[in-house]
Amino acid sequence: MIIASNLKTNLTRIQTSAYLMDLENFLDEMHSNQEILVFPAQSSLNLHSGQVHQGAQNAYPAKNGAFTGEIGSEQLEEFGINTILIGHSERRHIFSEPQALLVEKFNYYKNLGFKIVFCIGEPLKVREEGEDVMMKYLELQYEGIDTSYENLIIAYEPVWAIGTGLTPTLKDISKIHLALKEKSSAPLLYGGSVKVDTAKDILACEGVDGVLVGSGALAVENFCSMIQFAQDI
Ligand code: PGA
Repeated sequence: MIIASNLKTNLTRIQTSAYLMDLENFLDEMHSNQEILVFPAQSSLNLHSGQVHQGAQNAYPAKNGAFTGEIGSEQLEEFGINTILIGHSERRHIFSEPQALLVEKFNYYKNLGFKIVFCIGEPLKVREEGEDVMMKYLELQYEGIDTSYENLIIAYEPVWAIGTGLTPTLKDISKIHLALKEKSSAPLLYGGSVKVDTAKDILACEGVDGVLVGSGALAVENFCSMIQFAQDI
C-alpha cells in the first residue's frame, strides 16, 4: 500500500530531519514493503536517502525563472526529489489554483518522469447536491490529466473532511473509490481526517490502496502505526 504524510506548513527543517530519521529506523526494523511518501514544507526539504520518498507539496512548472515565492524543478533536483503533490484542495481553494495551472504542472512534471500524487475532492455543498452532481464534479477535476500516466497516484480527499475530523462512512469511501477506479487504474489513496484510530478500517476498505494523511501523521509514531496497519493487512 501507499502511506503518505503531508506535513503542510508544519515542522522546521531540523524537526523534519528527525521525523524522517525516526521513520527510516522504524521501516528498517519492521522490514516494511509499503511505499512511503513524505511531503515536507518547502523550506524543510533536504537531501534524503532511504526507503521514504521525499516529495514536494507544490512546485512551479518551470526549471527556474521569475516566479517569486515559487520553486522550480531545478530546486527539486538539488535534493533528488522526483515526487510531487498536485491539486491539493488547499492549493485549489486557498490559493485559487485553476485546473489549467494544475494541468500545466501535471504535464511539466510528467515529462520529467515524476511520481505525481494528484488530488481530487468535492466541497460539502457539492456533496449535498447528491451523488450524480458529486461524481460529475470529481470527473471535471480529471480534465486534461493523463489518467493512464504510469507514475500517477490519485488521492481522493473530500474537502469537507480535510482537517475537520469528519470522514465519509467506510461504505461511502468504498463506493466512491470503486466508482473512481473505473476512470483510472492508478493507485487510489483516501485522504481527509485519517487518524491513528480510523486508519486501520479505512485501509481495509475495498478500493483503497493507501492513505494521504495530514494532521494525523504529524507525530511520527502515529504515522508509523498507520504503516504497521498497512503491513498487517
Ligand atoms: P488531514 O489532511 O489529514 O489533516 O485532514 C489531509 C490532507 O490535507 O492531505
